[in-house]
Amino acid sequence: MSPVSAGIFVEKFRKLGTIPTLPQAATRALAIANDPKCTISDFARVIESDPALATSLLKLVNSSYYAGNSRISNLTMAITRLGLRETQNMILAVSVRSVFRWMPKDQQEERDRLWRHSALTAVLCRHINEKLGFDFNGEEFSSGLAHDLGRIMLAVGYPDVFCKLSERESLDEGILLQDEESLLGFNHTDLGSWLANMWNLSEEMVEAIQYHHHPDRAPKYSILCSIVSIGEEMANFMEEHRTVEGIDLSNNPGWILLRNRWQAIDELDPSVFATAVMIEAMDEAEALVVVDAEVTV
Ligand SMILES: [Fe+2]
Ligand SMILES: [Fe+2]
Repeated sequence: MSPVSAGIFVEKFRKLGTIPTLPQAATRALAIANDPKCTISDFARVIESDPALATSLLKLVNSSYYAGNSRISNLTMAITRLGLRETQNMILAVSVRSVFRWMPKDQQEERDRLWRHSALTAVLCRHINEKLGFDFNGEEFSSGLAHDLGRIMLAVGYPDVFCKLSERESLDEGILLQDEESLLGFNHTDLGSWLANMWNLSEEMVEAIQYHHHPDRAPKYSILCSIVSIGEEMANFMEEHRTVEGIDLSNNPGWILLRNRWQAIDELDPSVFATAVMIEAMDEAEALVVVDAEVTV
């Protein structure tokens, strides 16, 4: 994104007094989890410094999404059960979820729909990564979860435009992107990557947010961007058609990019692949969607 548009966003949201921030403890926890010397107790100490974050994580680990047999009442046990990487994902899930609170109150229905879309995309990305044999280790989940952060910011900063665009029947985000550009001169990927940069999210995630509709334009992480592009098309299909049969991925830009690079992917039938992934991901995705009602952030 050009520095000019970043300046416009800073000005706009500062005037509104609504630049959502990532809790400091979340920023630190996300950073130290990447340090190979980081231990579970270091990690737990950082999270404990923010009681709201610690409480949300404990609720999450005891929610139906993880469906453990025994109740977990302390953070060290929670992190041991989840592992560092999954805890990192869940810190981000809790943080992304908290941004939804900034959306206008009269946008409740759209807020729930967007959360559902984000959660579905995250879980689908995880399964696409596994099934295609890529070795992302949680970045695909986090990127799927955060890919449409810009749409939340649009609702916060430009509610009239957001409302107008929400009235569209189609869930096709390619058309949405064009409509945003014609009304505003920028789109939700510009807004989302601006926020991700401000939050110091990883370079991979910033690219996935910026290029999830155009993975071929991504400078460094086009594979991750492709996974998100495929995941979000599947999520939109599931939401729009309420079925896992009949999707045609052959025109998806992420699928085209991966197919052109790997013969093994080119040999797959995209519809059969997509249906299998959606079936595999369905229950896990639904459990993550309802986490929203169980975890108060
Ligand atoms: Fe999008
Ligand atoms: Fe999306």
